[in-house]
Amino acid sequence: MKVVALHGSPNVDGLTASLTEAVLAGASEAGAATNMIQLTEREIAHCGQCGNGWHKCREEGWCVIEDDFAQTRKAVLNADAWVLVTPVYFGEFSECVKAFTDRLRRCNVGARGEGLNGKPVVGVAAAGGSGGGTATCLLAMDRLFSHIGADVADLITVTRRSAEYKHAAVRAAGKAMVEAMKA
Ligand SMILES: Cc1cc2nc3c(=O)[nH]c(=O)nc-3n(C[C@H](O)[C@H](O)[C@H](O)COP(=O)(O)O)c2cc1C
Repeated sequence: MKVVALHGSPNVDGLTASLTEAVLAGASEAGAATNMIQLTEREIAHCGQCGNGWHKCREEGWCVIEDDFAQTRKAVLNADAWVLVTPVYFGEFSECVKAFTDRLRRCNVGARGEGLNGKPVVGVAAAGGSGGGTATCLLAMDRLFSHIGADVADLITVTRRSAEYKHAAVRAAGKAMVEAMKA
């Protein structure tokens, strides 16, 4: 069983990274092979809103922009389950998470038999500042997962004040997601 995690902070040793590691540690404990992708290291452009607003994404389920998007999407498609961990920026996704998920959502609308529908996912919003905007960020994640028909295993908010005890929660979420797939 494969679980891939996407993390959207430029910091390799920050809150987002440690939460991503915690979810994957839980998944690994349940027997999954895990892999982490740092989205800031990938070249993923914003959606070009081709044509009158739709292009191959809708017709055929792929994106015409040639960058690291297709390869990153493939990693999610090939996994049995996935994890999305974003830092909270201005109450929203970080920019690299937004760029990737905007295009992912579009391609899923047009996907023919290889969409993310029904694929289990854990989503985490990591707010390392005031903690303001954590709920709106998680709401955006909820809408994203709803649009792509994901099987949401859990949606978790983490702030500076809750980080200590929430690391255990995200680890448990990763473990529970994999155990549910095995059952
Ligand atoms: C551009 C920017 C906007 C931010 N906006 C918020 C915010 O709205 N709420 C909040 O709690 N923290 C905010 N932060 C702090 C991040 O959530 C914090 O850096 C986050 O934990 C990511 O930490 P990491 O890079 O160590 O993973 C912001 C940080 C940046 C760089």
